[in-house]
Amino acid sequence: MSEILHGNLDGLRDSVLAELRALTEWEIAPDEFLPRDLMQRLTQLSSSFNREIAVYITRDGGLVDVAVGTDSDVELRDYRLRRNRRRLSRVRCVHTHPNGDGHLSDVDLSALKSFRYDAMVAVGCLKGEPTNVQAAFLGPEESVIMERPYPWYKLPEAAWLQQIEDSDAVIGREQAAETGDERERAVLMGIESEESLAELARLAETAGAEVVGSFLQKRGKPDNALFIGKGRAEELSRDCQALEADVCIFDEELSGIQARNLEDMLGVKVIDRTMLILDIFAQRASSAEGKLQVELAQLQYRSARLIGASGALSRLAGGIGTRGPGESKLEMDRRRIRERIADLRRRLDEIEKQRGVRNKSRERSGIPVVALVGYTNAGKSTLLNVLTGASVYVEDQLFATLDTVSRRTETAEHTPYLLTDTVGFIRKLPHTLINAFRATLQEAADADVLVIVSDGASDQLMQQHDTVEQVLRELGAGDQPRIEAINKADLGRAEPALPGAILISALTGDGLDDLNRAIAEALQKTTVTATVFMPYAKGSLLQQIRGMGRVIDESYTDEGTRLTLVLPAADRDRIAARWGEDVFVN
Ligand code: GTP
Repeated sequence: MSEILHGNLDGLRDSVLAELRALTEWEIAPDEFLPRDLMQRLTQLSSSFNREIAVYITRDGGLVDVAVGTDSDVELRDYRLRRNRRRLSRVRCVHTHPNGDGHLSDVDLSALKSFRYDAMVAVGCLKGEPTNVQAAFLGPEESVIMERPYPWYKLPEAAWLQQIEDSDAVIGREQAAETGDERERAVLMGIESEESLAELARLAETAGAEVVGSFLQKRGKPDNALFIGKGRAEELSRDCQALEADVCIFDEELSGIQARNLEDMLGVKVIDRTMLILDIFAQRASSAEGKLQVELAQLQYRSARLIGASGALSRLAGGIGTRGPGESKLEMDRRRIRERIADLRRRLDEIEKQRGVRNKSRERSGIPVVALVGYTNAGKSTLLNVLTGASVYVEDQLFATLDTVSRRTETAEHTPYLLTDTVGFIRKLPHTLINAFRATLQEAADADVLVIVSDGASDQLMQQHDTVEQVLRELGAGDQPRIEAINKADLGRAEPALPGAILISALTGDGLDDLNRAIAEALQKTTVTATVFMPYAKGSLLQQIRGMGRVIDESYTDEGTRLTLVLPAADRDRIAARWGEDVFVN
């Protein structure tokens, strides 16, 4: 083990040296800046041999190093827990002034600047007792924020801890502006598989992070307290420091306790896969409904993880995992969260009611719906664009589309239909999200025909397909005709084992004729041609039936109107059930 005790140790008895070394066993709580008993211990020792003592305290509350100087100075050390020499070092330096005066000197302040301490603190001592204490912090543009000296028993500890966070944020931003990279540095931790971890990396990048490290620990049963074992968590803590991570992202859902324990241990923000996905959704949501749905999902997920009776959603420092589309910015107490959740539910219900009205009017227009469903990034939006000539946001990113987009188009035989593209699926799609997006997803799942689009370029195609099937089952999407399409055929991967699948390329247009034909055939099966005769006296009934399909012929006799129309088979059955089979001529 490297020596933790340094400096002018001449003439100090072994028992004193042992006492100095024992200082490193001191544990400082997260809400303590400088505990009183530690100050007293330092001043007793310092006065006993009339030399300055400097100790270094890390952000997670460890006392990691002790140095002894002369009666008027101590050699301050370049002690860093960060490689980046412009960022704060993540340690605060506390030293004694055995002549009674707790004022910081110019030398102290220049050490603060050059060694980038979190804080520089002087503790005055007189006759073995602390007197006053002064702290200084780094501010914007290399400035120094100098606090006034406080009596040792009255330190504004919370404010000083907060000042460290603030200084770190300012200096981080300045540095990012200089290097042009503001992305959060993310370390990933998985316990399932390389594939799942690779996908987590894409998600993290989609959320705007830079992945600086990723680790996989195969593990049967997650640890209750830390998810990964204690030893691995300690190692991960060192990795996070060495890689200067801002955030550690776990590939599985963490409980509130696990997240908090890990955050305390790693000293960086900790989020899980679900929070990451929710964060991407929060950034992407653009429609009013999408925003409400995401906010609801976020609040539900977070509120289930609040710890303690007064828990508030404000522990995290900002960035990934804390962004929300709503007014809340996710910083609320329990009562407000409950109220907000109720309010969001009410507003979503209203929107759904309106949607019901819209769907009815769509039913009346008699146009069948074909939905593109599939794993995120499979190419659904690209396909929608080529099939309908629409322009829908396409990007090589996960979850580029959040809202359902519908475009009217027609088959080669001019049968019109609505083609819809909706949010992509993903493995471990958070349940809160499925619930929140149920209405949107349901719209797709209730379509007359489903086109399941798979990414032929992915070696995870079958797993992704399974995920899609699973989510569809969950949504109760069952009996309608399905068409399997394997996209990105231009990238020339081997044909995977999906029986009856049509190979297509939305990019080059290959296979699209086959796909169109399959859609037309499927639609044909879902529609029937029927002729209705209605006496003039029942004009309003005729109007209702007219609205249910596409009229292809209409003629008038003395008795009434004869109407031939193409309509969904289900609607024909509905008409027969309601007004009797006699309505139909054939
Ligand atoms: P989400 O919005 O995440 O659900 O994605 P999506 O399924 O709508 O995928 P999108 O259409 O946004 O396409 C994802 C990426 O795949 C884009 O970079 C497309 O250019 C690319 N892509 C789509 N179709 C093809 C194709 O046939 N061949 C190739 N090589 N790339 C394609």
